[in-house]
Amino acid sequence: MADLPGPAASPLVGNALQLRRDRLGFLTRCAREHGDAAAFRIGGTAVVLLSHPDAVHELLTVRQHDFGKSPVLRRARAVLGDGLLTSEGDVHLHDRRLLQTAFSRQRVARYAEEMVDVAVAVVGSWTPGRPLDLHAQTVRTTLTVAGRTLFGTRLDEDVELVAGAVRDVLSAYPVLMLPLGDLLVRLPPTRGRVRRGTAALDTLTARLVGEHARGGPGREDLLSLLLEDFDPRHARDQVVTMLLAGHETTASALAFAGHLLAGHPSVQDRVAAEVREACGDGGVPMVDDLERLPLTRAVMAEALRLYPPAWTMGRQARASTKVADVEIPAGTVLLAPQWVVHRDARWWPDPEAFDPDRFLGPAPDRPRFAYFPFGGGTRQCIGESFAWTEGVLTLAVILARWRLRPVPGRPLVPDPLLTLRPRDGSWVVPEPRPA
Ligand code: HEM
Repeated sequence: MADLPGPAASPLVGNALQLRRDRLGFLTRCAREHGDAAAFRIGGTAVVLLSHPDAVHELLTVRQHDFGKSPVLRRARAVLGDGLLTSEGDVHLHDRRLLQTAFSRQRVARYAEEMVDVAVAVVGSWTPGRPLDLHAQTVRTTLTVAGRTLFGTRLDEDVELVAGAVRDVLSAYPVLMLPLGDLLVRLPPTRGRVRRGTAALDTLTARLVGEHARGGPGREDLLSLLLEDFDPRHARDQVVTMLLAGHETTASALAFAGHLLAGHPSVQDRVAAEVREACGDGGVPMVDDLERLPLTRAVMAEALRLYPPAWTMGRQARASTKVADVEIPAGTVLLAPQWVVHRDARWWPDPEAFDPDRFLGPAPDRPRFAYFPFGGGTRQCIGESFAWTEGVLTLAVILARWRLRPVPGRPLVPDPLLTLRPRDGSWVVPEPRPA
Protein backbone atom coordinates (compact mmCIF):
# COMPACT_ATOMS: atom_id res chain seq x y z
CA MET A 1 0.00 0.00 0.00
CA ALA A 2 2.98 2.28 0.64
CA ASP A 3 3.64 2.41 -3.10
CA LEU A 4 0.05 3.02 -4.25
CA PRO A 5 -0.24 6.04 -6.56
CA GLY A 6 -2.12 9.09 -5.34
CA PRO A 7 -2.28 12.90 -5.35
CA ALA A 8 0.48 14.97 -3.75
CA ALA A 9 -0.24 15.64 -0.08
CA SER A 10 0.94 18.38 2.27
CA PRO A 11 2.92 17.08 5.27
CA LEU A 12 0.56 18.04 8.08
CA VAL A 13 -3.01 17.89 6.74
CA GLY A 14 -2.44 15.47 3.85
CA ASN A 15 -5.18 15.95 1.22
CA ALA A 16 -7.82 17.24 3.62
CA LEU A 17 -8.07 20.70 2.09
CA GLN A 18 -8.41 19.41 -1.49
CA LEU A 19 -11.12 17.06 -0.29
CA ARG A 20 -12.88 19.80 1.65
CA ARG A 21 -12.87 22.17 -1.36
CA ASP A 22 -14.58 19.72 -3.73
CA ARG A 23 -15.30 16.23 -2.39
CA LEU A 24 -16.94 14.82 -5.54
CA GLY A 25 -14.35 16.33 -7.90
CA PHE A 26 -11.42 15.27 -5.72
CA LEU A 27 -12.49 11.61 -5.57
CA THR A 28 -13.26 11.56 -9.29
CA ARG A 29 -9.87 13.03 -10.22
CA CYS A 30 -8.11 10.69 -7.81
CA ALA A 31 -9.64 7.63 -9.48
CA ARG A 32 -9.26 8.85 -13.07
CA GLU A 33 -5.66 10.06 -12.63
CA HIS A 34 -4.26 7.45 -10.24
CA GLY A 35 -6.18 4.27 -11.05
CA ASP A 36 -8.55 1.79 -9.43
CA ALA A 37 -6.68 1.77 -6.11
CA ALA A 38 -5.38 5.21 -5.15
CA ALA A 39 -4.00 6.39 -1.82
CA PHE A 40 -4.36 9.72 -0.06
CA ARG A 41 -4.31 11.05 3.47
CA ILE A 42 -6.58 13.02 5.79
CA GLY A 43 -4.20 14.30 8.46
CA GLY A 44 -2.54 11.13 9.78
CA THR A 45 -5.24 8.73 8.50
CA ALA A 46 -4.34 6.71 5.39
CA VAL A 47 -7.22 6.36 2.89
CA VAL A 48 -7.45 3.98 -0.09
CA LEU A 49 -9.98 4.79 -2.79
CA LEU A 50 -11.28 1.64 -4.52
CA SER A 51 -13.03 2.36 -7.77
CA HIS A 52 -13.12 -0.99 -9.53
CA PRO A 53 -16.40 -2.91 -9.03
CA ASP A 54 -14.52 -6.14 -8.23
CA ALA A 55 -12.62 -4.41 -5.42
CA VAL A 56 -15.89 -2.93 -4.10
CA HIS A 57 -17.35 -6.45 -4.15
CA GLU A 58 -14.39 -7.78 -2.21
CA LEU A 59 -14.60 -4.99 0.38
CA LEU A 60 -18.36 -5.20 0.96
CA THR A 61 -18.82 -8.97 0.82
CA VAL A 62 -15.81 -11.32 0.74
CA ARG A 63 -13.72 -9.39 3.28
CA GLN A 64 -16.49 -7.51 5.07
CA HIS A 65 -15.59 -9.04 8.44
CA ASP A 66 -12.11 -7.51 8.33
CA PHE A 67 -13.68 -4.05 8.42
CA GLY A 68 -15.77 -1.86 10.69
CA LYS A 69 -17.74 1.21 9.68
CA SER A 70 -15.80 4.36 8.76
CA PRO A 71 -14.66 6.80 11.46
CA VAL A 72 -17.25 9.32 10.21
CA LEU A 73 -20.12 6.87 10.66
CA ARG A 74 -18.74 5.79 14.02
CA ARG A 75 -18.84 9.42 15.10
CA ALA A 76 -22.46 9.55 13.95
CA ARG A 77 -23.15 7.40 17.01
CA ALA A 78 -23.37 10.68 18.93
CA VAL A 79 -26.78 11.04 17.24
CA LEU A 80 -27.77 7.54 16.11
CA GLY A 81 -26.42 5.65 19.14
CA ASP A 82 -26.44 1.90 18.60
CA GLY A 83 -29.08 1.89 15.85
CA LEU A 84 -28.92 -0.50 12.91
CA LEU A 85 -26.80 1.78 10.71
CA THR A 86 -24.04 2.25 13.29
CA SER A 87 -24.09 -0.93 15.43
CA GLU A 88 -21.52 -3.65 14.74
CA GLY A 89 -20.85 -7.33 15.41
CA ASP A 90 -23.33 -9.45 17.36
CA VAL A 91 -25.56 -6.50 18.27
CA HIS A 92 -25.97 -5.69 14.58
CA LEU A 93 -26.60 -9.33 13.62
CA HIS A 94 -29.25 -9.78 16.30
CA ASP A 95 -31.03 -6.50 15.54
CA ARG A 96 -30.92 -6.97 11.78
CA ARG A 97 -32.62 -10.40 12.05
CA LEU A 98 -35.31 -8.97 14.28
CA LEU A 99 -36.02 -5.85 12.23
CA GLN A 100 -36.02 -7.68 8.91
CA THR A 101 -39.67 -8.70 9.42
CA ALA A 102 -40.79 -5.06 9.25
CA PHE A 103 -39.18 -4.80 5.78
CA SER A 104 -40.29 -8.07 4.15
CA ARG A 105 -41.76 -7.81 0.67
CA GLN A 106 -45.25 -8.64 1.95
CA ARG A 107 -45.02 -5.98 4.65
CA VAL A 108 -43.76 -3.34 2.18
CA ALA A 109 -46.59 -4.23 -0.20
CA ARG A 110 -49.00 -3.39 2.64
CA TYR A 111 -47.34 0.01 3.07
CA ALA A 112 -47.94 0.83 -0.61
CA GLU A 113 -51.46 2.17 -0.11
CA GLU A 114 -50.24 4.71 2.48
CA MET A 115 -47.40 5.71 0.13
CA VAL A 116 -49.87 6.49 -2.66
CA ASP A 117 -52.36 8.27 -0.37
CA VAL A 118 -49.67 10.57 0.99
CA ALA A 119 -48.23 11.33 -2.46
CA VAL A 120 -51.70 12.11 -3.87
CA ALA A 121 -52.35 14.57 -1.02
CA VAL A 122 -48.96 16.30 -1.35
CA VAL A 123 -49.03 16.73 -5.14
CA GLY A 124 -52.69 17.79 -4.90
CA SER A 125 -51.57 20.87 -2.94
CA TRP A 126 -49.37 22.24 -5.75
CA THR A 127 -50.36 25.40 -7.62
CA PRO A 128 -50.18 25.22 -11.42
CA GLY A 129 -47.37 27.37 -12.79
CA ARG A 130 -45.90 28.30 -9.38
CA PRO A 131 -42.24 27.20 -8.93
CA LEU A 132 -41.70 24.84 -6.01
CA ASP A 133 -38.77 23.17 -4.31
CA LEU A 134 -39.42 19.51 -5.11
CA HIS A 135 -36.97 18.45 -2.40
CA ALA A 136 -39.03 20.11 0.33
CA GLN A 137 -42.09 18.33 -1.08
CA THR A 138 -40.45 14.91 -1.23
CA VAL A 139 -39.14 15.31 2.33
CA ARG A 140 -42.73 15.99 3.37
CA THR A 141 -43.95 12.92 1.49
CA THR A 142 -41.35 10.42 2.66
CA LEU A 143 -41.38 11.58 6.28
CA THR A 144 -45.17 11.37 6.43
CA VAL A 145 -45.02 7.89 4.91
CA ALA A 146 -42.36 6.76 7.39
CA GLY A 147 -44.52 8.06 10.25
CA ARG A 148 -47.64 6.24 9.13
CA THR A 149 -46.07 2.94 8.03
CA LEU A 150 -43.19 2.40 10.47
CA PHE A 151 -44.43 4.26 13.54
CA GLY A 152 -48.21 4.21 13.14
CA THR A 153 -48.46 7.96 13.63
CA ARG A 154 -48.87 11.27 11.82
CA LEU A 155 -45.73 13.33 11.42
CA ASP A 156 -47.36 15.93 9.16
CA GLU A 157 -46.83 18.68 11.73
CA ASP A 158 -43.24 17.66 12.42
CA VAL A 159 -41.77 17.98 8.94
CA GLU A 160 -40.06 21.32 9.62
CA LEU A 161 -38.72 20.10 12.96
CA VAL A 162 -37.19 16.95 11.44
CA ALA A 163 -35.87 18.76 8.35
CA GLY A 164 -34.19 21.33 10.63
CA ALA A 165 -32.76 18.58 12.85
CA VAL A 166 -31.33 16.83 9.78
CA ARG A 167 -29.68 20.06 8.62
CA ASP A 168 -28.25 20.67 12.11
CA VAL A 169 -26.88 17.15 12.43
CA LEU A 170 -25.43 17.10 8.91
CA SER A 171 -23.63 20.40 9.56
CA ALA A 172 -21.05 18.32 11.44
CA TYR A 173 -20.03 16.42 8.33
CA PRO A 174 -17.63 18.90 6.67
CA VAL A 175 -15.99 19.45 10.06
CA LEU A 176 -15.55 15.73 10.67
CA MET A 177 -13.67 15.44 7.39
CA LEU A 178 -10.92 17.72 8.69
CA PRO A 179 -7.81 16.48 10.48
CA LEU A 180 -8.68 16.55 14.22
CA GLY A 181 -12.35 16.58 13.14
CA ASP A 182 -13.14 14.55 16.24
CA LEU A 183 -12.04 17.46 18.39
CA LEU A 184 -13.41 20.22 16.18
CA VAL A 185 -16.99 18.91 16.27
CA ARG A 186 -16.92 19.36 20.03
CA LEU A 187 -16.36 23.12 19.62
CA PRO A 188 -18.90 25.85 18.84
CA PRO A 189 -20.75 26.40 16.58
CA THR A 190 -20.89 22.75 15.40
CA ARG A 191 -21.36 21.33 18.88
CA GLY A 192 -24.38 23.57 19.49
CA ARG A 193 -26.04 22.65 16.18
CA VAL A 194 -25.54 18.92 16.64
CA ARG A 195 -26.90 19.10 20.19
CA ARG A 196 -29.91 21.08 19.03
CA GLY A 197 -30.63 18.57 16.22
CA THR A 198 -30.21 15.60 18.54
CA ALA A 199 -32.45 17.17 21.20
CA ALA A 200 -35.19 17.77 18.61
CA LEU A 201 -35.03 14.13 17.48
CA ASP A 202 -35.08 12.94 21.10
CA THR A 203 -38.18 15.00 21.87
CA LEU A 204 -39.96 13.61 18.85
CA THR A 205 -38.95 10.04 19.71
CA ALA A 206 -40.24 10.45 23.27
CA ARG A 207 -43.55 11.68 21.86
CA LEU A 208 -43.83 8.71 19.47
CA VAL A 209 -43.17 6.28 22.31
CA GLY A 210 -45.69 8.05 24.56
CA GLU A 211 -48.39 8.00 21.86
CA HIS A 212 -47.69 4.36 21.23
CA ALA A 213 -48.09 3.47 24.90
CA ARG A 214 -51.46 5.29 24.97
CA GLY A 215 -52.54 3.47 21.78
CA GLY A 216 -52.34 0.14 23.60
CA PRO A 217 -51.23 -3.28 22.38
CA GLY A 218 -52.17 -5.13 19.20
CA ARG A 219 -50.29 -2.97 16.69
CA GLU A 220 -47.98 -4.48 14.15
CA ASP A 221 -45.69 -1.63 13.12
CA LEU A 222 -41.94 -1.32 13.51
CA LEU A 223 -42.32 0.79 16.64
CA SER A 224 -44.27 -2.00 18.39
CA LEU A 225 -41.50 -4.43 17.51
CA LEU A 226 -38.88 -2.07 18.90
CA LEU A 227 -40.68 -1.35 22.12
CA GLU A 228 -41.37 -5.03 22.80
CA ASP A 229 -37.84 -6.27 22.17
CA PHE A 230 -35.45 -3.46 23.07
CA ASP A 231 -34.65 -1.61 26.25
CA PRO A 232 -35.71 2.07 26.10
CA ARG A 233 -32.25 3.42 25.23
CA HIS A 234 -31.72 0.94 22.41
CA ALA A 235 -35.28 1.47 21.13
CA ARG A 236 -34.57 5.23 21.04
CA ASP A 237 -31.48 4.62 18.87
CA GLN A 238 -33.42 2.44 16.43
CA VAL A 239 -36.28 4.94 16.20
CA VAL A 240 -33.96 7.87 15.45
CA THR A 241 -32.04 5.75 12.90
CA MET A 242 -35.20 4.63 11.10
CA LEU A 243 -36.70 8.11 11.25
CA LEU A 244 -33.66 9.52 9.43
CA ALA A 245 -32.60 6.60 7.20
CA GLY A 246 -36.23 5.86 6.37
CA HIS A 247 -37.01 9.18 4.71
CA GLU A 248 -33.97 11.31 3.91
CA THR A 249 -32.31 9.27 1.15
CA THR A 250 -35.56 8.47 -0.68
CA ALA A 251 -36.57 12.14 -0.53
CA SER A 252 -33.29 13.17 -2.18
CA ALA A 253 -33.55 10.39 -4.80
CA LEU A 254 -37.05 11.56 -5.75
CA ALA A 255 -35.95 15.20 -5.86
CA PHE A 256 -33.04 14.31 -8.17
CA ALA A 257 -35.30 12.14 -10.36
CA GLY A 258 -37.91 14.90 -10.69
CA HIS A 259 -35.29 17.48 -11.59
CA LEU A 260 -33.76 15.19 -14.23
CA LEU A 261 -37.21 14.59 -15.72
CA ALA A 262 -37.91 18.33 -15.82
CA GLY A 263 -34.83 18.68 -18.03
CA HIS A 264 -35.89 15.76 -20.27
CA PRO A 265 -39.49 16.41 -21.36
CA SER A 266 -39.63 13.56 -23.87
CA VAL A 267 -38.68 10.97 -21.23
CA GLN A 268 -41.20 12.59 -18.92
CA ASP A 269 -43.99 12.24 -21.47
CA ARG A 270 -43.12 8.58 -22.00
CA VAL A 271 -43.30 7.94 -18.24
CA ALA A 272 -46.65 9.73 -18.01
CA ALA A 273 -47.98 7.59 -20.88
CA GLU A 274 -46.75 4.44 -19.14
CA VAL A 275 -48.50 5.44 -15.90
CA ARG A 276 -51.75 6.20 -17.71
CA GLU A 277 -51.61 2.88 -19.54
CA ALA A 278 -50.85 0.94 -16.33
CA CYS A 279 -53.17 2.72 -13.91
CA GLY A 280 -55.95 4.18 -16.04
CA ASP A 281 -56.88 7.83 -16.44
CA GLY A 282 -57.10 8.49 -12.68
CA GLY A 283 -53.42 7.62 -12.50
CA VAL A 284 -53.63 6.30 -8.94
CA PRO A 285 -51.21 3.36 -8.90
CA MET A 286 -51.58 0.27 -6.71
CA VAL A 287 -48.86 -2.09 -5.65
CA ASP A 288 -49.86 -4.59 -8.35
CA ASP A 289 -49.22 -1.92 -11.00
CA LEU A 290 -45.51 -1.82 -10.16
CA GLU A 291 -44.66 -4.51 -12.66
CA ARG A 292 -46.36 -2.47 -15.38
CA LEU A 293 -44.15 0.56 -14.64
CA PRO A 294 -40.71 -0.54 -15.92
CA LEU A 295 -39.79 2.88 -17.37
CA THR A 296 -40.80 4.67 -14.16
CA ARG A 297 -38.56 2.26 -12.25
CA ALA A 298 -35.77 2.80 -14.79
CA VAL A 299 -35.99 6.57 -14.18
CA MET A 300 -35.56 5.96 -10.46
CA ALA A 301 -32.64 3.60 -11.17
CA GLU A 302 -30.95 6.12 -13.46
CA ALA A 303 -31.42 8.92 -10.91
CA LEU A 304 -29.81 6.66 -8.28
CA ARG A 305 -26.93 6.03 -10.68
CA LEU A 306 -26.24 9.69 -11.44
CA TYR A 307 -27.04 11.08 -7.99
CA PRO A 308 -26.62 8.24 -5.48
CA PRO A 309 -27.82 9.51 -2.07
CA ALA A 310 -25.19 7.19 -0.55
CA TRP A 311 -22.43 8.75 -2.66
CA THR A 312 -19.54 6.89 -1.03
CA MET A 313 -19.19 4.10 1.50
CA GLY A 314 -16.42 3.98 4.06
CA ARG A 315 -14.90 1.15 6.05
CA GLN A 316 -11.90 0.97 8.43
CA ALA A 317 -9.60 -2.08 8.64
CA ARG A 318 -9.80 -3.77 12.07
CA ALA A 319 -6.49 -5.58 11.47
CA SER A 320 -4.02 -5.90 8.62
CA THR A 321 -5.68 -7.44 5.58
CA LYS A 322 -5.65 -7.47 1.78
CA VAL A 323 -8.16 -6.15 -0.77
CA ALA A 324 -7.69 -6.20 -4.56
CA ASP A 325 -4.17 -7.51 -3.98
CA VAL A 326 -3.29 -4.41 -1.97
CA GLU A 327 -1.87 -4.90 1.53
CA ILE A 328 -4.04 -2.88 3.92
CA PRO A 329 -2.54 -2.01 7.32
CA ALA A 330 -4.85 -1.92 10.36
CA GLY A 331 -6.62 1.43 10.75
CA THR A 332 -6.62 2.27 7.03
CA VAL A 333 -9.87 3.76 5.76
CA LEU A 334 -11.20 2.30 2.50
CA LEU A 335 -13.66 4.22 0.35
CA ALA A 336 -15.99 2.65 -2.23
CA PRO A 337 -17.46 5.68 -4.02
CA GLN A 338 -20.79 5.17 -5.82
CA TRP A 339 -20.41 8.67 -7.28
CA VAL A 340 -17.21 7.62 -9.12
CA VAL A 341 -18.08 4.02 -10.06
CA HIS A 342 -21.57 4.93 -11.32
CA ARG A 343 -20.00 7.47 -13.70
CA ASP A 344 -17.23 5.25 -15.04
CA ALA A 345 -17.31 5.00 -18.85
CA ARG A 346 -15.99 1.42 -18.69
CA TRP A 347 -19.38 0.26 -17.38
CA TRP A 348 -21.65 3.14 -18.39
CA PRO A 349 -21.32 4.42 -21.98
CA ASP A 350 -21.82 8.21 -22.12
CA PRO A 351 -21.83 8.15 -18.31
CA GLU A 352 -22.94 11.75 -17.67
CA ALA A 353 -26.08 11.39 -19.83
CA PHE A 354 -29.50 10.81 -18.26
CA ASP A 355 -30.69 7.74 -20.14
CA PRO A 356 -33.16 5.53 -18.24
CA ASP A 357 -33.33 3.18 -21.23
CA ARG A 358 -30.01 1.70 -20.14
CA PHE A 359 -31.98 -0.04 -17.37
CA LEU A 360 -34.54 -1.53 -19.77
CA GLY A 361 -34.18 -4.70 -21.82
CA PRO A 362 -31.70 -7.51 -21.18
CA ALA A 363 -29.09 -6.64 -18.54
CA PRO A 364 -25.73 -5.92 -20.18
CA ASP A 365 -22.67 -7.81 -19.08
CA ARG A 366 -21.35 -5.43 -16.42
CA PRO A 367 -19.88 -6.32 -13.02
CA ARG A 368 -22.41 -6.58 -10.16
CA PHE A 369 -20.80 -3.73 -8.21
CA ALA A 370 -20.71 -1.28 -11.11
CA TYR A 371 -24.04 -0.21 -9.54
CA PHE A 372 -24.57 -0.31 -5.79
CA PRO A 373 -26.82 2.52 -4.62
CA PHE A 374 -27.97 0.35 -1.70
CA GLY A 375 -24.52 -0.98 -0.74
CA GLY A 376 -23.89 -4.73 -0.44
CA GLY A 377 -23.05 -7.64 1.85
CA THR A 378 -24.65 -8.09 5.25
CA ARG A 379 -24.94 -4.31 5.65
CA GLN A 380 -26.94 -3.86 2.45
CA CYS A 381 -29.79 -1.39 2.93
CA ILE A 382 -32.64 -3.01 4.88
CA GLY A 383 -35.07 -0.52 3.36
CA GLU A 384 -34.23 -1.18 -0.30
CA SER A 385 -37.54 -2.68 -1.29
CA PHE A 386 -39.36 0.02 0.75
CA ALA A 387 -37.40 2.67 -1.18
CA TRP A 388 -38.09 1.18 -4.64
CA THR A 389 -41.79 0.82 -3.89
CA GLU A 390 -42.11 4.33 -2.50
CA GLY A 391 -39.91 5.87 -5.20
CA VAL A 392 -41.71 4.33 -8.18
CA LEU A 393 -45.24 4.88 -6.79
CA THR A 394 -44.51 8.50 -5.86
CA LEU A 395 -43.01 9.29 -9.27
CA ALA A 396 -46.05 7.69 -10.92
CA VAL A 397 -48.42 9.83 -8.83
CA ILE A 398 -46.50 13.01 -9.69
CA LEU A 399 -46.27 12.36 -13.42
CA ALA A 400 -49.87 11.27 -13.81
CA ARG A 401 -50.94 14.78 -12.75
CA TRP A 402 -48.13 17.16 -13.52
CA ARG A 403 -45.66 18.05 -16.21
CA LEU A 404 -42.50 19.37 -14.54
CA ARG A 405 -40.57 22.19 -16.16
CA PRO A 406 -37.11 23.43 -15.10
CA VAL A 407 -36.79 26.83 -13.41
CA PRO A 408 -34.19 28.97 -15.28
CA GLY A 409 -31.33 30.10 -13.03
CA ARG A 410 -32.03 27.38 -10.44
CA PRO A 411 -29.54 24.61 -11.25
CA LEU A 412 -29.31 21.41 -9.28
CA VAL A 413 -26.22 21.47 -7.04
CA PRO A 414 -25.48 18.12 -5.37
CA ASP A 415 -24.10 18.55 -1.86
CA PRO A 416 -22.09 15.56 -0.61
CA LEU A 417 -22.60 15.44 3.16
CA LEU A 418 -23.15 12.14 4.97
CA THR A 419 -25.67 11.68 2.15
CA LEU A 420 -25.91 13.46 -1.21
CA ARG A 421 -28.62 16.13 -1.17
CA PRO A 422 -29.69 18.98 -3.46
CA ARG A 423 -27.85 21.92 -1.83
CA ASP A 424 -30.17 24.73 -2.93
CA GLY A 425 -33.30 22.67 -3.43
CA SER A 426 -34.64 21.02 -6.57
CA TRP A 427 -36.70 23.70 -8.28
CA VAL A 428 -39.38 22.87 -10.84
CA VAL A 429 -42.56 24.42 -12.19
CA PRO A 430 -45.55 22.04 -12.14
CA GLU A 431 -48.00 22.42 -15.05
CA PRO A 432 -51.19 20.36 -15.13
CA ARG A 433 -50.81 17.43 -17.51
CA PRO A 434 -53.59 17.51 -20.10
CA ALA A 435 -56.00 14.55 -19.88
C1 HEM B 1 -33.13 5.66 -2.13
C2 HEM B 1 -33.19 5.37 -0.86
C3 HEM B 1 -32.08 4.71 -0.06
C4 HEM B 1 -30.75 4.59 -0.34
C5 HEM B 1 -29.99 5.11 -1.55
C6 HEM B 1 -30.15 3.86 0.77
C7 HEM B 1 -28.81 3.50 0.83
C8 HEM B 1 -28.27 2.73 1.84
C9 HEM B 1 -26.93 2.21 1.85
C10 HEM B 1 -25.88 2.41 0.77
C11 HEM B 1 -26.77 1.52 3.00
C12 HEM B 1 -25.51 0.78 3.45
C13 HEM B 1 -24.63 1.64 4.34
C14 HEM B 1 -23.33 0.93 4.68
O1 HEM B 1 -23.17 -0.26 4.45
O2 HEM B 1 -22.45 1.61 5.26
C15 HEM B 1 -28.00 1.61 3.73
C16 HEM B 1 -28.22 1.06 4.98
C17 HEM B 1 -29.39 1.21 5.68
N1 HEM B 1 -30.57 1.77 5.23
FE1 HEM B 1 -30.88 2.57 3.43
N2 HEM B 1 -31.13 3.60 1.68
C18 HEM B 1 -32.33 4.08 1.21
C19 HEM B 1 -33.56 3.98 1.82
C20 HEM B 1 -33.79 3.44 3.06
C21 HEM B 1 -35.09 3.31 3.70
C22 HEM B 1 -36.41 3.68 3.02
C23 HEM B 1 -34.86 2.80 4.95
C24 HEM B 1 -35.85 2.45 6.02
C25 HEM B 1 -37.14 2.53 5.90
C26 HEM B 1 -33.43 2.60 5.09
C27 HEM B 1 -32.79 2.14 6.22
C28 HEM B 1 -31.49 1.74 6.26
C29 HEM B 1 -30.87 1.13 7.43
C30 HEM B 1 -31.52 0.93 8.78
C31 HEM B 1 -29.56 0.79 7.07
C32 HEM B 1 -28.52 0.05 7.91
C33 HEM B 1 -28.63 -1.43 7.57
C34 HEM B 1 -27.61 -2.32 8.26
O3 HEM B 1 -26.46 -1.89 8.45
O4 HEM B 1 -27.98 -3.45 8.56
N3 HEM B 1 -32.81 2.99 3.92
N4 HEM B 1 -28.92 2.34 3.00
